Amino acid sequence: MAAVTRVNGPLVEVDGLGEAAMFEVVDISGIPGEIVSLSGGHATVQAYEYTGGIVPGANVTALGEPLSARLGPHLLGGIFDGLLRPLDGAGMWLDPVAGRTRDDRTWHFRPLLDAGSPIAAGTPIGTVDGSGAVAYLVLAPGGTVTTIRPEGDYPADTPVATVGDRDVTMVWHWPVRRALPYRERLDDKVPLITGQRVIDLLLPLRRGGTVAVPGGFGTGKTVLLQQIAKWCDADVVVYIGCGERGNEMADVVAELAELTDPRTGGRLLERTVVIANTSNMPMMAREASVYTGVTVAEHFRDMGYDTVVIADSTSRWAEARREFASRSGALPAEEGYPADLASAIAAFYERAGLVTTLGGGTGSVTIIGAVSPPGGDLTEPVTTHTQRFVRALWSLDRELAYARHYPAVSWTGSFSRDGDALAAWHTRNGRRDWAPLRARVAGLLAEADRLSALAELVGTATFPAHERVVLLADRLLREGLLQQSALSAVDAYCAPERTAALAGLILDTVDDCLQLTEQGLPAAEIETRDFSHILRAKETP
Ligand SMILES: Nc1ncnc2c1ncn2[C@@H]1O[C@H](COP(=O)(O)OP(=O)(O)OP(=O)(O)O)[C@@H](O)[C@H]1O
Ligand SMILES: [Mg+2]
Repeated sequence: MAAVTRVNGPLVEVDGLGEAAMFEVVDISGIPGEIVSLSGGHATVQAYEYTGGIVPGANVTALGEPLSARLGPHLLGGIFDGLLRPLDGAGMWLDPVAGRTRDDRTWHFRPLLDAGSPIAAGTPIGTVDGSGAVAYLVLAPGGTVTTIRPEGDYPADTPVATVGDRDVTMVWHWPVRRALPYRERLDDKVPLITGQRVIDLLLPLRRGGTVAVPGGFGTGKTVLLQQIAKWCDADVVVYIGCGERGNEMADVVAELAELTDPRTGGRLLERTVVIANTSNMPMMAREASVYTGVTVAEHFRDMGYDTVVIADSTSRWAEARREFASRSGALPAEEGYPADLASAIAAFYERAGLVTTLGGGTGSVTIIGAVSPPGGDLTEPVTTHTQRFVRALWSLDRELAYARHYPAVSWTGSFSRDGDALAAWHTRNGRRDWAPLRARVAGLLAEADRLSALAELVGTATFPAHERVVLLADRLLREGLLQQSALSAVDAYCAPERTAALAGLILDTVDDCLQLTEQGLPAAEIETRDFSHILRAKETP
């Protein structure tokens, strides 16, 4: 009989687990935990709930499987904890392994093919209607469909088909620390439209891409991520609140429940899976939550959907790992983080991608992770490692945030490795002016950036008129294009057409000003003209 020998916060030492395997889930007198180190029959266990009340000698049972997510039609529109246990109807989910839980709801199943059909692994054999904004597809292993149930209502765990001699239900179980398999990774560069102008135009994100959002305290990480959760054009959004404030999670859920999805007419919450492990919840479940979140996204990817994982904040996840490592006496590396910090961050972002699924469809997982460096110090380990592994970085600038320039995404301190390729995509797909607009806006901002350093030293009075117009253009671009209030009913979301129109309007105005300087009009006179039409345009649908 295995029993607890020592308890140190979430770290529980157990003797007598001779038969157990690494990463197996154990039940510590009612609390779920995961074996993270084993030697002989002695195991170190990471406990996922508060361990108060657990005493040496308490019974421990190995459950025979790794930490798994229960993937099924109940996910969309739901709110879960870090182990993917529903936070609403907790009563029936008390079993610590998500994979063995049961729910007695029935779901409306509709078969997509007949008995006798040969299928490849990962082929959808049926759909579940009414389970969210997108159809939930029941995926099957490869073989010949031997039996398949007629359309009707069934509990999720009841077999709806047999393929070969294997039963297929509406539910999949998958160990969260392993990526779900796919056929091949695709290199196509297609933008994920976020509805935020500074991002879509200057620092775009591709479907299947990765981006980190570092920013000091209060610079607008959560607001930006929530804006993207609301407006991005993904089919499914997995929002992981990881160690952040609970009331913010409640707010985002309430808003998503009210807002209408412009594409489906349903509620935005119905395309969203919320995983909440806020600062008031047990710390180690944060560690698991990023993996459960990505696993959920991969599952919908395998149905052929474009999914987005939003994690706020990956720093809190890293801190949970650090906390545990320090209790286990592991030799700390940089700033107390365990030595595997870099590889753990890399492995997390590595699960993003645009792929051909096993069933032959196309789907993607895009990962957006907030990083909250303590004291805004961008040289700390989580930030520096993360920057190496992402395709894009939206760095939030404290100066911009203080000046209430929101979103405070710095256009000098950020990057998107796919910027040119994605601009070319827009240009190929009906927005012919996109790439030139982007180039001109970026060029003016960069030129103004160089000039303003000089202007701070010597003032602008001695500048040639042309350069003063560049500084004017900078102001108009900031106010009329890059600033975008999350609170504006009209402007919180901006479609690419409107982004292009606003950029075009400002650039036309700048061209008019440049022409006036050529005609000899003094710069001072141009600068004091009325440019309010630009700000008005932003608030006009
Ligand atoms: N896009 C925006 N539009 C309007 N206001 C914004 C925007 N972004 C941020 N703000 C303002 O800044 C405040 C702080 O933003 P937020 O909570 O997102 O910061 P944070 O970086 O997540 O902070 P923390 O480090 O505490 O998690 C918001 O409450 C809001 O007033
Ligand atoms: Mg925040």
